[in-house]
Order: sequence, then structure tokens, then C-alpha cells
Amino acid sequence: MGYRVAVVGATGAVGREMIKTLAERNFPVSDIAALASGRSAGTEISFGEHRVLKTQNLEKFDFRGWDIGLFSPGASVSAIHAPRAVEAGCIVIDNTSHFRMDPNVPLVVPEVNPEALHGFRGGIIANPNCSTIQMVVALKPLHDEFKIKRVVVATYQSVSGAGKEGMDELFANSRAFYVNDPVTPQQFTKNIAFNVIPHIDSFMDDGSTKEEWKMVVETKKILDPNIAVMATCVRVPVFIGHALALHVEFERPVAPGEARAALRGAPGIAVTDVREDGGYATPTEVAGEDNVYVSRIRRDPTVPNGIAFWCVGDNLRKGAALNAVQIAETLVAQGVFARQAA
Ligand SMILES: NC(=O)c1ccc[n+]([C@@H]2O[C@H](COP(=O)([O-])OP(=O)(O)OC[C@H]3O[C@@H](n4cnc5c(N)ncnc54)[C@H](OP(=O)(O)O)[C@@H]3O)[C@@H](O)[C@H]2O)c1
Repeated sequence: MGYRVAVVGATGAVGREMIKTLAERNFPVSDIAALASGRSAGTEISFGEHRVLKTQNLEKFDFRGWDIGLFSPGASVSAIHAPRAVEAGCIVIDNTSHFRMDPNVPLVVPEVNPEALHGFRGGIIANPNCSTIQMVVALKPLHDEFKIKRVVVATYQSVSGAGKEGMDELFANSRAFYVNDPVTPQQFTKNIAFNVIPHIDSFMDDGSTKEEWKMVVETKKILDPNIAVMATCVRVPVFIGHALALHVEFERPVAPGEARAALRGAPGIAVTDVREDGGYATPTEVAGEDNVYVSRIRRDPTVPNGIAFWCVGDNLRKGAALNAVQIAETLVAQGVFARQAA
């Protein structure tokens, strides 16, 4: 038994990772299509060791007969083509921000709120923002055990969060620095090489950025509307892997050892927390890994019941592709496709 899977945005940073993840996890695929813009029609992408897919133009693609659409072509493109795919009977798992806050669309991290998929029969499921995903994976076991009141987070987000062109720009700007060439920022607002930029996505009226807003509202939708969240999102010159510095306030006192015990063994989490040189995880070490890594767990004495910690994850895997494939695996386990076919 296999499923017909269409990967939309297949030539991008997330799309390529989705195709890789489907093969690595032996997702039951009976047929697979790689779709992107007309610009990349014909581009070849490997699927597993033995298959090469020829990218097709999304505009001309007919979704009838396809079971699952894994979408990451950008918000404005998903806005048009995800409903078209659903209309044709395909279940869409969308990585863009377009549908996330729609009250009729489940926003899902399988380790955190699988219940959001109960009773799902078809339509669109949204994959949260990459920083939100890794944050809620780490917060979930803490919230279940100690009840979180407030979270203050600063992110250190890699350039792959801005797609393949973001990665190219870090490479080009770094090279320009060494050969003394002028730098012209395009994907980022300032030179990203040897710099950090406290600005991701557009500015909102209250002075926060849309990336920061996403972390606030998505966390409330996924985990608990009563948790207060304040985020500062920063782009850093790292190719893959986002890091978060988190300050969490609980309803009751929590010792660092209790927090460590709750995090250890929780699904999707690895605790790397040795109080010595190098006894913590960094983005370049976790690139390519599935888990979210938690380090530097310690008391935050500036609030009544505070714990601070460091959290690192691969934004292209758990922050995007892996989470989407895990959602598809959950649907298979729930028999959603069998019900659809019936
Ligand atoms: N990168 C991350 O960490 C991350 C995490 C979570 C969510 N996301 C979201 O996922 C989406 C894609 O991100 P990305 O990092 O993969 O970007 P990317 O590397 O720039 O890739 C974009 C993909 O979309 C395709 N595309 C662009 N315009 C299209 C159109 N008009 N019709 C069909 N396909 C089109 C591109 O195809 P061509 O090659 O033909 O241009 C490419 O395959 C964004 O909405 C992003 O916010 C990204």
C-alpha cells in the first residue's frame, strides 16, 4: 500500500529536504511528483538511491488522483494552489505561513498537539514556523509537568530559513568580505556575513516583526492560549540550524534538575547539558539531525519561578520537512486516506 505524493516547491531548501526525508523514513510512496515554478521545469532531483524525478510546472499540474501534497512554494503560491489541490481531493500539508492562523486549519507538531488531527477528513494542515516548532517541542514536556506562565525567547536563525537564496547570499557576502568586493544585500536588509540582523520578515505596527508575531500566536494555538510569549528574532550567519535562548516562567518553583528530568526522554528531544567547555549543542552540530537539542538548563533568578535554557534544531528538518512528513505519517496511522477512499 503506497500513497501518491506531490512535493510542491521541490527545488527549494525545504522541498529538497522533504524529498530526502520521505526516502530516508521509507514513507509508503507509490508515486511521487516534484513540482516547482516553470523556471525549473525539467530540473532533476534524486529520490532515494535509484530514482531521479524530473521537476514539473505546478501551474500545469493536475492534482486529481494524488493523495498528499507537501507544499513549500511560498505563501502567495500556496494561497492559490493549495485550495486547488484540495478541490481535486488531495490532502495538503503546507509549510508556508498562509493558512496557519485560519481557525479551520489544524496547526500541528505531532509530538505536541496530535489531537488537532483527530477527526480530520481532508483539506489543509499547516506546518508551523521553524522557530515555533523547535520551541514548542521543548516547551511541551515542561508545560505538561509544571505549567508555563510566560516565555521570553531570543532566536539565532540561520540563513537557510530564508531559502536557497538566503544561503547563497551568506556565501556571496562572505566571499566579498575577503576579496574586498562591495556587498549588496538582497534577501537580508544588511550584510549578513560576520554580522547579526535583528529583523526577520516585515515590521508590524507595534514595532515587532512578523516572525516574532508568528512565534507568539502559533505557540498559543499549538500549546496553550494562556501562555504569554515575547520574542526577538535575529538572523545570524549560520547556514543551517536555528538556536533559541529561552527564559521560561512557571506557576510553581522548578529546579533545574526537575526541568532536565522532564525534558530527558520526551519525544523529539535530546538533552546535551554538561557544565564544561563544549558541553552544549550548536547549530552546525545538529544540522541533519531530527531531534531538538536542549542545553544550558539553569535557574533564572530574575523571576519567581524561572528556568533558562538553550535549544537548537535543524530548521529544514524538524523546523519544516520532517515535521511535515511526520504529519503525513500520523494521517496514515489514523487511517485518514483509507476513510477518504471509502
Ligand atoms: N527554510 C526554512 O527553514 C523554512 C521553514 C519552515 C517554513 N518555510 C517556508 O517554506 C516556504 C519555502 O521555503 P524554502 O526555504 O524552501 O524557499 P526556497 O529555497 O526559496 O524555495 C522556494 C521553492 O518554491 C518554488 N516556487 C517559487 N515560486 C513558485 C511558483 N510561482 N510556482 C511554483 N513554485 C514556486 C521554488 O521553485 P523554483 O526553483 O522554480 O523557483 C522553490 O522550489 C516558504 O514559505 C517558507 O516560509 C521555510
